[in-house]
Amino acid sequence: MNAFLPYLKYLRPYRFHFWMAMLAGVVFAVSSGFSLPMMADKVFPRLFGDGQQMDGLTVAVVAMGIPLVFAIRAISGFFNVYLINYCGVRILESIRASFFSKILEVEPGYFTKSRTGDLVSRMSADTALVQLTLTEAANDLIRQPLTLLAAVSFLIYKSASDQQFAFIFLCLLVVPASVFPVRALGKRLFRKAKQQQVEQGDVSNLMTEAVSGAREIRIFRAEASFLERFQRKVADLLHSQMRVIKYFHMLSPSIEVISSAGVSLAFVVAYIQGITLETFMPLLFALYMSYEPIKKIGVLSSRFHRGKAALERLEEITGYPISILEPGADRAISLDRARGEIEFTDVSFAYGEEPTLEGVSFRIQPGEKVAVVGPSGAGKSTLIQLIPRFYDPASGSVRIDGNDVRDLSFEDLRRNIAIVLQEPVLFAGTFEDNIRLGKPEATAEQVEEAARKAHIHDFIVSLPMGYKTEAGERGTQLSGGQRQRIALARAFLKEAPILIMDEATSALDSESEEKIQLALSSLFEHVTGIMIAHRFSSIRFVDRILVLDKGRLVASGTHAELMESCSLYRKLYLNQAGTDDAGYEARSAV
Ligand SMILES: Nc1ncnc2c1ncn2[C@@H]1O[C@H](COP(=O)(O)OP(=O)(O)O)[C@@H](O)[C@H]1O
Ligand SMILES: [Mg+2]
Repeated sequence: MNAFLPYLKYLRPYRFHFWMAMLAGVVFAVSSGFSLPMMADKVFPRLFGDGQQMDGLTVAVVAMGIPLVFAIRAISGFFNVYLINYCGVRILESIRASFFSKILEVEPGYFTKSRTGDLVSRMSADTALVQLTLTEAANDLIRQPLTLLAAVSFLIYKSASDQQFAFIFLCLLVVPASVFPVRALGKRLFRKAKQQQVEQGDVSNLMTEAVSGAREIRIFRAEASFLERFQRKVADLLHSQMRVIKYFHMLSPSIEVISSAGVSLAFVVAYIQGITLETFMPLLFALYMSYEPIKKIGVLSSRFHRGKAALERLEEITGYPISILEPGADRAISLDRARGEIEFTDVSFAYGEEPTLEGVSFRIQPGEKVAVVGPSGAGKSTLIQLIPRFYDPASGSVRIDGNDVRDLSFEDLRRNIAIVLQEPVLFAGTFEDNIRLGKPEATAEQVEEAARKAHIHDFIVSLPMGYKTEAGERGTQLSGGQRQRIALARAFLKEAPILIMDEATSALDSESEEKIQLALSSLFEHVTGIMIAHRFSSIRFVDRILVLDKGRLVASGTHAELMESCSLYRKLYLNQAGTDDAGYEARSAV
């Protein structure tokens, strides 16, 4: 239960609802725990008591007392549950929102450590469980303890007037005894519930893999092994689910047995003490009214255990410390439009133990076009991701126009950078929407111009719906090249002074050599450009080439200079020469 306390702060805007719910809860509790036994105490003796005759009207009025108390109890009970549920749902809304904004806020590198299915399962299954806990618990959270309190007050009140101490003492003895099964089962329930939710995440992961890896699974004939893994995971999940159901439903009966023992004890004591039926009836009422809450509080606590397990999983995400932070408003240097100078000074970076970048230093002049080449795994993609701060260097600094990127607000920093990644993601929406992501306020003409530059305009207008064509989930209706071109158009539309491409020019490969050169030099016009070379043929227009090997910058210069001085560059170039059109030039140059 304590796990939920921090979330009470979300109640602030709804405190009126909350206090009204509390008030209704108090009315409910008093009418059930105190008034009902009280009615029994006052009404029954008059109806069955000393045999004295009453006229019909008096009987009716006296008898009406019972439905009246029930009516008050019903109405206050309704408002209590309704209002408290409202508060519960509002709290959940805040939990969902903080989960989602965390997903939007966290550094992109976080997602390589976590699995999509698991995150989706947390967002859906775990929040659903928290919701269930909050709403179910809301029904009983206030009124049961208060009803218990009211019933106990009645018992004490009776004991003060009737001196039936032993009787009442025994009735109350059951209260602490009932706590044992609650505690014992609660702990198990919590463990199993947590396990169940982890397994739910595993199942979701397998599901997302089956969807995203549909082609791989088919071509490698992995259907059977996937199915088997799925069945195993589902069986594990069912197993834990049944455990949860078992502990959950053992609780109520255990408490019932304990409290029925209490009741039978009460009977015996009542018999020995020679208590009359009129005295016994209201006490039995009060007893029933106090055991009922004990049982419900027991169930409530087990629900909280289950909900807490879900909440903890959500908190692992919402409480994840973001390591890449914006500078405070007081520290931030403002940068409206960058000239586009980029400088790395002795930059080192590691994902884990092994360094991925070591002592990398270079400077790119505003408007300069630079290519980065190197063997696969050299650290090229890592290098460019330090510029928009997808990662921060472990040591050294990255500067734009002389400002450390860590001193710029995300807005100022990222507004100045456009990136095209190797596998760009398109979002649900039309082609136009997807391109417009680069500049939401762009006119239709600007969108079209960007699409022309990216050589995708002709394709788009050839479709019946043109720019209004739905791109499909993750752009699945498009070829890889078409997706890249949309992403290129998106990047141009942004008109940022720094344009970065990570092996993103395969989109242009189907064009003739000359056209690629033309296209690229028009794309990189007026900007500082960094491109990770996909093909050597696509980097002829650049001013300078950086050669990266095992996280170190090993050489820098023009193509001709590097062919002369850098053996790694020569090797990379000649390797590709055999398979690429660049080879003609290479062979003739040798
Ligand atoms: N998210 C990551 N977590 C851990 N290691 C990574 C991650 N991304 C890349 N690496 C590792 O860092 C090294 C450089 O990767 P990368 O920058 O992608 O190289 P390149 O783009 O030159 O092929 C590789 O050894 C790769 O395995
Ligand atoms: Mg790469």
